[in-house]
Amino acid sequence: QVHPVFLCGGSGTRLWPLSRKSYPKQFAAILGDESLFQGSARRLTGEGFSDPIVVTGDPYRFVVGEQLTTLGVRPDALMIEPEGRNTAPAILAAALWQEKSDPEALMLVAPSDHVIPDHAGFREAVFAATNRALEGDLVTFGIRPDRPETGYGYLLLADDGNPASDTPQKLASFIEKPDADAAEKMVADHRYLWNAGIFLFKVRTLVEAYKAHAPEVLTGVRRAVDAAKGDLGFIRLDAAAWATVPDISVDYAIMEKAGNLSVMPYGGKWSDLGSWEAVWQDSNPDGDGMVVSQNATAIDCKGSLLRSESDRLELVGIGLTDTVAIATSDAIVIAPRAESQRVKEAVAALKARG
Ligand code: GDD
Ligand code: MG
Repeated sequence: QVHPVFLCGGSGTRLWPLSRKSYPKQFAAILGDESLFQGSARRLTGEGFSDPIVVTGDPYRFVVGEQLTTLGVRPDALMIEPEGRNTAPAILAAALWQEKSDPEALMLVAPSDHVIPDHAGFREAVFAATNRALEGDLVTFGIRPDRPETGYGYLLLADDGNPASDTPQKLASFIEKPDADAAEKMVADHRYLWNAGIFLFKVRTLVEAYKAHAPEVLTGVRRAVDAAKGDLGFIRLDAAAWATVPDISVDYAIMEKAGNLSVMPYGGKWSDLGSWEAVWQDSNPDGDGMVVSQNATAIDCKGSLLRSESDRLELVGIGLTDTVAIATSDAIVIAPRAESQRVKEAVAALKARG
């Protein structure tokens, strides 16, 4: 059995104004009518999976619980971080919790803000990779890169590796968030895949990796887990111990350093919906390249995303080309589609204004 772990932190400002600190993008129904978090949870439940562990922040504990209940999923544990310390501590907290009952357990750690439409196909990839994890490797999932993205990790296959194989392949190295020049070179070289941000391993393997590469993280997180308190069905990590834990991602803390890495290539569709441009792409634009939500109307528009979240606000576009226009009850953003990444500048500007 595979024990899924869902990471539900991070504030995802790239889909502002729909994604907010108080309501990050994983909880919003961005494509279709279930949230990204619900999609992730549904993808990794059922035959072959145990009930999931969810690691999240205090502000999100009820929305997490409700969204799982709606799906009929009962979490095995709902762990609450006193504050976000990035993915290295969050993943380890789940592993140390699992270690108490079964140090040999297989865990699959998944972000909760991705889109992988072919649920059955992805589950197959997971099950095809379990043996490699049982043998003691940290297994990543690899996506064929199609642009020099600097926001992802890159996986370099070992010499005889085949990036199109449907079995796990050994990795030579892991490069997190390269600069633009390095990313250009890696996309042009077929030996590299993107890291999907999903990891499969045996609890014991992961704990050994922290012992070797991030002992400070291990010490603090172990104390926080040992001193955790049950609270109305939630498990609260100990705040004093958590405060001593370094803020670092698992990619930098462990993956860039470990030698026992493999990748399971995944050829299906995968997106992390990192911008409104990506949402437009993944919403299957019609013949004119249009995506138009409820409460929105397009007249003579092409290549645009028009979306109103408010029943009280009709959004109308006339003669627009390659534009995104997003309206919520308290904010509206309009931008050329190609510049939709820049909503983070709006978030920064509004934050500075207070
Ligand atoms: N519980 C918890 N606590 N979850 C967290 C925390 C935290 O402190 N920080 C991040 N997460 C969750 C996010 O909500 C997201 O679901 C996942 O962990 C990954 O974090 P991101 O902050 O989105 O990472 P990233 O996108 O910069 O990079 C990672 O994902 C890429 C693919 O999307 C890396 O693994 C890259 O190598 C990878 O390519
Ligand atoms: Mg991300």
